[in-house]
Amino acid sequence: MPNKQINHKRDFHYKQAKKEGYRARSAYKLIDIQKRYNIFKRAFYILDLGCAPGSWLQVAKSNAESNLIKYNDVHYHRDHYKILGVDTKNVFPIENIQTLKIDLRNPEINAKIKSNFQNKLDLILSDASINKSGNKFSDHLRQNKLCYSIVDIAKHHLKFKGILVMKAFQGIDFVELVRNFKNEFKISKTYKPQASKKKSNEIYLIGIQKKN
Ligand SMILES: C[S@@+](CC[C@H](N)C(=O)[O-])C[C@H]1O[C@@H](n2cnc3c(N)ncnc32)[C@H](O)[C@@H]1O
Repeated sequence: MPNKQINHKRDFHYKQAKKEGYRARSAYKLIDIQKRYNIFKRAFYILDLGCAPGSWLQVAKSNAESNLIKYNDVHYHRDHYKILGVDTKNVFPIENIQTLKIDLRNPEINAKIKSNFQNKLDLILSDASINKSGNKFSDHLRQNKLCYSIVDIAKHHLKFKGILVMKAFQGIDFVELVRNFKNEFKISKTYKPQASKKKSNEIYLIGIQKKN
């Protein structure tokens, strides 16, 4: 077995994910973000871009299910939740969750999101990640481009005061991406969860309270 694969299997979060029934160790990145920013507060309509194999969908589902009970009050609440996952890869089905096999950069995605939710979304998650070539510079530029498509989707489909969580790669154009991101949200944060590998340049942008 190659060294990289052996190290992966020895990894704490990998073992934890196996034990707790998550499809990927990335689940802990989202759980960490949730603990810090409470992104799932009153989130009932949720879109997950780049969702395969589905551990973020699992975390989203468990939070949305508890929200039905937790936030059944006079303030904004719903009596149901809707979660849609999007990926170019197949996703093994999860009960009560819809998935779409489509490239998120395909403009047809807009009509599909609209017909699935009918309403604007409370929360958009994106752990979408380009296929890395190993060249950090070009990988960063390609990921940045993908991030702009994600922000564009949020502009169209996220509700006023909604939340966007998106993975980016740090690099030369990251500051410009953050500047653009900040224009869309009242509060914006950058955060590297504990489960992110130290040597990786990945970082998450968290936009809280979409402006309009
Ligand atoms: C790190 S994985 C996501 C893991 C997921 N959050 C989980 O916890 O199971 C990144 C995913 O982004 C998807 N992806 C990358 N570019 C995409 C695109 N343009 N459209 C849709 N999905 C994309 C990949 O196919 C891959 O499944």
